[in-house]
Amino acid sequence: MTKRTTRGPDQPPFAFVLFGGTGDLAMRKILPALFAAHRDGLLAPDGQIVAVAQTALDTGGYLRWVREHVKPHIAGAPIEDSVWRSFLERIVYVMLDASQPQTYAALRDTPATTSGRRIFYLATGPALFVPICRALASAGLTEGSRIVLEKPLGYDLESSNAINDAVGEIFDEDQIYRIDHYLGKEAVQNLLALRFGNSLFEPLWRREWVESIQITVAEELGVESRGQFYDQTGAMRDMVQNHLLQLLSIIAMEPPRSMDADAVRDEKLRVLRALKPVLGDDIRQNVVRGQYHAGAIKNTSVCAYHAETGVRQGSSTETFVALKAEVENWRWAGVPFFLRTGKRLAGRIAEIVVNFRPVPHSALGPTALRPGSNRLTIRLQPNESIRLSALAKQPGMGMTLQGVHLDLAFDQFFQQNRMEAYQRLLLDVIGGRLALFVRRDEQEAAWRWVAPIIEDWATQASLPKPYAAGTWGPAAASALLARHNTCWPEEEN
Ligand code: BG6
Repeated sequence: MTKRTTRGPDQPPFAFVLFGGTGDLAMRKILPALFAAHRDGLLAPDGQIVAVAQTALDTGGYLRWVREHVKPHIAGAPIEDSVWRSFLERIVYVMLDASQPQTYAALRDTPATTSGRRIFYLATGPALFVPICRALASAGLTEGSRIVLEKPLGYDLESSNAINDAVGEIFDEDQIYRIDHYLGKEAVQNLLALRFGNSLFEPLWRREWVESIQITVAEELGVESRGQFYDQTGAMRDMVQNHLLQLLSIIAMEPPRSMDADAVRDEKLRVLRALKPVLGDDIRQNVVRGQYHAGAIKNTSVCAYHAETGVRQGSSTETFVALKAEVENWRWAGVPFFLRTGKRLAGRIAEIVVNFRPVPHSALGPTALRPGSNRLTIRLQPNESIRLSALAKQPGMGMTLQGVHLDLAFDQFFQQNRMEAYQRLLLDVIGGRLALFVRRDEQEAAWRWVAPIIEDWATQASLPKPYAAGTWGPAAASALLARHNTCWPEEEN
């Protein structure tokens, strides 16, 4: 049933100004998320959405576009007509050229932007971030406003600093919301709950008891329609610099004093700053980059990365990364964190595996030393779950141990719908909650850590290691773990 709430202190009137209003992100994620928030009664009744783009349309034309292109991306129960109509009533369209300051008068003169809290959501390429901020400042639209920046924020440390410096001249840090949509996932929130809501794991969550940690974000998708963008970006910038390092920092952080935005972000930052730099020979030893070749996903043939539209001939862009990271602090010294992500892999899985050390002496025979026997697997998607793997005695004579699991499937335990990441994050922006957004210093620390690896690759004549689409990546990724006497979960028998 549709849930309605009255407007509380968290729901001030707002003008949500969406730059890139006819773009892919607006169509697939942002407008569907705003619709879901509207449907669930979580938006202030007088909140408005001002879609901004260069396309010559009026509001009527834009609403037809929304009907045709956005509606199919809205998940959940069939949409009630009245709810859809009232959603459309919130939307106005303003045509402007984001790179031309003189066109911003149209935005300033839109009644929606003159009252309530202004939120500027830049769902555009990063090249437009600074011009938009400057034009908003000249139009007198920045005071008390919030700005939301989509990733990628820059291309490397230098360009991300340049953007942050320029945006920082116009907006204070507490007006800036840098999106990493992984932080809005229910499952990622649950990591915080698991770690800091239970005393059970805390004593074990350290080098004395943890042998290694693996973080995998695997996708079946290829580069889809984003070949050109992706070819300039690659998996390290697209996924590792942000999503994977954010997951690592949440897994490895010290308990924060509270869930206040800065209390959490201070602790994540400490982890990112404690990452051991991967330099020189270490890169060859401990970082694997791969690129997919033709193969099959769910029995359907798919083309090689090279053959994707928008990809340069002979491109050396990586579509896969596996690496060993280390956190140099008292808690984690010496514990390898293996990170892996890639496109066109054998499954869509995001999970974190915490491998605990085997018993120091096996009074029960060699089966008690089996790898993977004491392990916590946190599955983030699909089918969010937590699995504790342990050993138990097989029934019968003798003492043969066998792996058993304690499983918690969240969708079975909780009947409520899970909130989509974007919905949560947009509501947080509207409500002024910064905890799930990346602070500038975190972003810098993450860039600083990936930079030497990216720079080293740029000087290498060698190409990324090939892997067939539909597999788990290049053999070198398995060899990396084998050198540390372990393996990826799917390689266990
Ligand atoms: C985005 C990347 O940030 O995350 C995409 O740019 C990737 O390349 C996507 O496909 C994965 O997100 P999710 O939520 O589907 O795991």
